[in-house]
Amino acid sequence: MNATQKPRTAQVNGPLWGERARDWADIQEGTCKPVYLAAFERMGLREGMTYLDAGCGAGMALQIAAGRGARVSGVDAAANLLAIARERVPTGDIHQGELESLPFADHAFDRVTGFNSFQYAGNPAVALGEARRVAKAGAEVVVMTWGEPEGMQAASLVAALKPLLPPPPPGAPGPFAMSAEPALRAFATAAGLEVLDVFDVASPWHYPDLPTALRGLRSSGVAARAIAHAGESAVDAAHSDALAPFRQTDGSFRIGANFRCLRARA
Ligand SMILES: C[S@@+](CC[C@H](N)C(=O)[O-])C[C@H]1O[C@@H](n2cnc3c(N)ncnc32)[C@H](O)[C@@H]1O
Repeated sequence: MNATQKPRTAQVNGPLWGERARDWADIQEGTCKPVYLAAFERMGLREGMTYLDAGCGAGMALQIAAGRGARVSGVDAAANLLAIARERVPTGDIHQGELESLPFADHAFDRVTGFNSFQYAGNPAVALGEARRVAKAGAEVVVMTWGEPEGMQAASLVAALKPLLPPPPPGAPGPFAMSAEPALRAFATAAGLEVLDVFDVASPWHYPDLPTALRGLRSSGVAARAIAHAGESAVDAAHSDALAPFRQTDGSFRIGANFRCLRARA
């Protein structure tokens, strides 16, 4: 590896994101469903189109797309999440693999998405370049990341984990590194994509009670790293404190969250 190369991350991230795959699929993944729906609407995903979700996780977006008649493919690092994706979409072409080296031919897809995934690649620019490579000329690509953290309630849940994580490598981008619109546009342009628009989708998180909220929040790969470093009770305590302001009178929780999507042409 030379000085400009960064390590690939699938081997590290796969086990972390797969550790509590069922909780992710049952509780946490659905918090982004409004974003998948908005992205498919904007990109005009239609019956018969070839569609790739890069970093497909447990496959909720693939399942929605397959329900609309798209011919779906997915790739992710986490074997346990992919097992759920394959259950949900038996007809899908679903691979365990690395975002920086997609197991698909050039110009294979009419539509490509990466929902909160490219930022986890060791080199996100290489990962997005791969998304462009596998998209047909003129195909649409959507990159989804966190919205701007200022004023976003869910940002306090992200912040709660920070003291419990091992120190990041120097200069490592934080979770909101691509949230600012200029940074997101520059990311896409550097990969050779033509930016069409940037749009935000409100996607509030609902949990019926505290145990469900804690199970959902424990299920991310980031939480798995924090649990390995600081222990599950420390993570639960941090999440409980951060959740407290969002408790409703019936004991449920409602937390405002926003996601930012960039739509581009390959
Ligand atoms: C925040 S989750 C998003 C999953 C899914 N898109 C969703 O919306 O639920 C990030 C996903 O990226 C995957 N991932 C992280 N690094 C990866 C890599 N280098 N190659 C392939 N997948 C990766 C993880 O396994 C995880 O499923």
